Amino acid sequence: MTTPFTTTQTGSPVASDQYSLTVGADGPTVLHDRYLVEKLASFNRERVPERNPHAKGGGAFGEFEVTEDVSAYTSAAVFQPGATSETLLRFSSVAGEQGSPDTWRDVRGFALRFYTTEGNLDVVGNNTPVFFLRDAMKFPDFIHSQKRLGASGLRDADMQWDFWTLSPESAHQVTYLMGDRGLSKSWRHLNGYGSHTYQWINAAGERFWVQYHFISKQGVENMSNEDAERIAGEDADYYRRDLFEAIQRGEHPSWDVKVQIMPYEDAKTYRFNPFDMTKVWPHADYPLIKVGTFTLNRNPQNFFAEIEQAAFSPGNQVPGTDISPDKMLMARVFSYNDAHRHRIGANFNQLPVNQPHAAPVSTYMHQGPMQYHFNGAEHPVYTPNSFGGPSADPTRTAEGSWEADGELMRSAYTLHSEDDDFGQAGTLYREVFDDAAKARFLETLTGQGKSITIDEIRERFFWYWTSVDAELGAKLRSEVAS
Ligand code: HEM
Repeated sequence: MTTPFTTTQTGSPVASDQYSLTVGADGPTVLHDRYLVEKLASFNRERVPERNPHAKGGGAFGEFEVTEDVSAYTSAAVFQPGATSETLLRFSSVAGEQGSPDTWRDVRGFALRFYTTEGNLDVVGNNTPVFFLRDAMKFPDFIHSQKRLGASGLRDADMQWDFWTLSPESAHQVTYLMGDRGLSKSWRHLNGYGSHTYQWINAAGERFWVQYHFISKQGVENMSNEDAERIAGEDADYYRRDLFEAIQRGEHPSWDVKVQIMPYEDAKTYRFNPFDMTKVWPHADYPLIKVGTFTLNRNPQNFFAEIEQAAFSPGNQVPGTDISPDKMLMARVFSYNDAHRHRIGANFNQLPVNQPHAAPVSTYMHQGPMQYHFNGAEHPVYTPNSFGGPSADPTRTAEGSWEADGELMRSAYTLHSEDDDFGQAGTLYREVFDDAAKARFLETLTGQGKSITIDEIRERFFWYWTSVDAELGAKLRSEVAS
């Protein structure tokens, strides 16, 4: 087999991969060594900024197949009986940077893309069904508190617990995080959740509220604090390696796609606010309905091009799916594409991994840095036009909507009868954790309590967990003191 010649970026074969052009064997390097200059300049531009949250991750491609009939709830082509779609799933940790160990305790990101015939649908979720906050205004502060101190550049328990205990709506998610799910055995062994309430619209234009659940067919498995700490030292890329090698071996992980459906009108009178993402909808009220299954069966060919440059957005919806009046979700619809424009560039959606793979793009948005996609010469550059250019379809009934009428204000959600911060966290602790899980939870929280150095924050830490469960709070106070 003959190996190809190395070339410059413009295809010209190069004379040496090893030696710079110098004046004599030991003399100065000349600036007109075009290949050396190009190679160094290219190297200096290899990195794009890492994602602010969720910097460390990995992912793979796969296929989704609809096995059931949920057409009563959505007209989206991707969810019609028998439909198949290509998928991309990126897993991540939240707080750590690019090189951080995979097995640091954290929530895991679960960003799932369906390349549908009606455009890309992204569900950018986590391995937990709830979140720390219910208003986007607090998100940057939350992430700052999980990252690093300004002066020392160190992560800091005081800062984390200060924020959490001053934001009691975090209690449900922190209970998940400090429980077994904070240390997954692998990315293959975790469930994904859309976490927000989204909207589905059927062919008749009827609207439903929906929550996505992606249930691992490998089962949910976790690891101990001891194993996580040891592995963090031995193999920082433990999860990334596990997924890549499993797919390479032909062990293709899969997840069942399920949804909870709430009739549109129920939201107005439900006992707690169904758009508050610190809450789960009890299955007894809204049971899980299966939609289909997806399987990851293809590793990236190139990690940077296909995973690092993958640009997900909760705003990527298709006809028959949409967002809801969840204040977190509405802000995320703006935030992600803004991050991508900064991180990757204005035309991030033209990269192969971000382009729709099963739907055409027909748009009047054009040009900008690194334009790759362009319309044919006959395509007018403005609308309306008299030359047969694409035009919007006013008959589309599948766009989501809801009623809203009121003065502009900065306020918490209107109260429903059972809105609170601690109730579901207490239920998770008392009714979902078994005795062994409760013991591990207490041990983890004891370690956390001991790492808090400021008395006032430690006192609030005890108040926070006592509010979740009085007995837990008392045990914790005595364990931390011992
Ligand atoms: C990544 C913002 C809430 C899951 C990101 C990124 C930003 C961001 C800027 C980096 C995007 C990039 O550079 O590619 C926000 C804001 C939020 C919010 C402003 C709240 C208002 C959430 C919630 C979830 C979530 C509630 C899960 C339910 C993720 C995931 C990623 C991510 C999984 C990584 C996506 C990937 O794999 O590329 N978020 N986020 N975020 N976020 Fe959020």
